Amino acid sequence: MEFTAKYMAAKAAISEIKSGQRLGLGTGSTARYFVDLLGEMVANGFETICVPTSIETEKQALELNIPLTDLDSLDELDIVIDGADEIDDNMILIKGAGGALWREKIVASKAKRMIVIADHSKMVANLGAFPLPIEINQFAWKTTKKQIENIGTDYITSNKLKLRIGSNSEPFITDGGHFIVDAFFSRILNAKKLSSALLNVAGVVQHGLFIDMCDIALIADDNGVTRYER
Ligand code: 5RP
Repeated sequence: MEFTAKYMAAKAAISEIKSGQRLGLGTGSTARYFVDLLGEMVANGFETICVPTSIETEKQALELNIPLTDLDSLDELDIVIDGADEIDDNMILIKGAGGALWREKIVASKAKRMIVIADHSKMVANLGAFPLPIEINQFAWKTTKKQIENIGTDYITSNKLKLRIGSNSEPFITDGGHFIVDAFFSRILNAKKLSSALLNVAGVVQHGLFIDMCDIALIADDNGVTRYER
């Protein structure tokens, strides 16, 4: 088996968890490796109770007999392990290429620690080359899109939005029943101000900027895994 960087990052996260912990399970191809590894450990007696961040991850975890619960049943999670699309020097993330950003953020907000697992290509000097996913209500979505475009370019260098289309050629629908617009901001100059501006738009459900949430990043390349701590 070829060990990809994503797999190596996921494997490194295994040494960050302990039996008996309550875990949040991320979404995406890197998180999928972690869930597979966790499934093997559970089969060998590792004790855990987990909350998945998407229907896709829930299905995978159920197939692997990983014990699941809902977030409301726990006072907190010990650790959430998830992937990312971009990570900057301050460990601010762009997430949501897989469309699970809303649940991912809710789950991460209830975790004592967030561990991000990724290959080295996700590390960036400036956020924004990757389009920022923004989850919006279906109701009057064109109005919401226009209002996001009206934010202007004070905190970003470009502002072009595209409604995400799914594999069925229809608008992509999230697990929460919303649409996603992918925002081509080119470069994000101030993530905190951009976050506030986006959340001020009435039809915005949530966006994929994760600010002050990631505690540890396990980043893999050909030379191994580097651990970054905030
Ligand atoms: C899904 C996400 C993913 O974690 C992110 O897109 C990274 O995915 P991958 O591990 O497949 O590169 O945010 O909403």
